[in-house]
Amino acid sequence: MRIVFIGPPGAGKGTQSQRLLDYLHIPHLSTGEMLREAREAKTSTGQLVDSFMVRGNLVPDPIIMQMVGERLERPDSAAGALFDGFPRTLRQAQGLDEALAERGTPLDMVLELQVNDQEVMSRLAGRGRNDDLPEVVAQRLALFWKQTRPLVEYYRKRGLLHAVDGHGTPDEVFARIREAVDQVRSKQRS
Ligand code: AP5
Ligand code: MG
Repeated sequence: MRIVFIGPPGAGKGTQSQRLLDYLHIPHLSTGEMLREAREAKTSTGQLVDSFMVRGNLVPDPIIMQMVGERLERPDSAAGALFDGFPRTLRQAQGLDEALAERGTPLDMVLELQVNDQEVMSRLAGRGRNDDLPEVVAQRLALFWKQTRPLVEYYRKRGLLHAVDGHGTPDEVFARIREAVDQVRSKQRS
């Protein structure tokens, strides 16, 4: 399966990805994690992206598309993918569509994890990643609503969207996600 996970910072995309990967056994493609790894490895890309990430700004589309393109070339991508935190802009969404169309492996579904801004602020306040300062979280949230949330309509029009309430315990949220995934899978089988 190929699934896109959309949701504000702190919605629980990473937390739920872990559960979903155990359930579906597909590769995890988190652009945030890939960027943090590049940064830690001090690659040229890593050094370039740091200034965007610490301010809560989006890393430019060409860098992201290059990184994702390379990841999709790896053989395990044939088994599917859970795209976590990607795409985040219309350009990235179009780029992903093109890359998947070339491979004949379109998206199966898009999960929108819905969490209100207040909950986001309180979840990230206690975590301590270097982009979790309140003013940086505010910028990440603002960019989510401006640049990323419009993708929900882009995918809704194509019948791919499944909205899931992200409030409650991680297990409660996962039960909702699993229900949506099972629904898509049983439709595909019939
Ligand atoms: P990225 O790493 O993708 O971060 P994000 O989307 O801003 O969100 P987080 O990873 O902080 O939250 P999450 O939804 O994964 O929630 P989590 O499970 O961790 O991106 C970071 C940066 O990289 C961006 O700002 C940008 O600069 C750059 N970037 C990345 N991708 C890009 C792209 N495609 N284009 C351009 N730039 C890009 O949970 C959060 C916290 O809440 C945790 O402490 C967790 O334990 C807790 N929690 C989770 N679920 C629950 C629950 N149900 N109840 C209570 N607490 C919970
Ligand atoms: Mg994450």
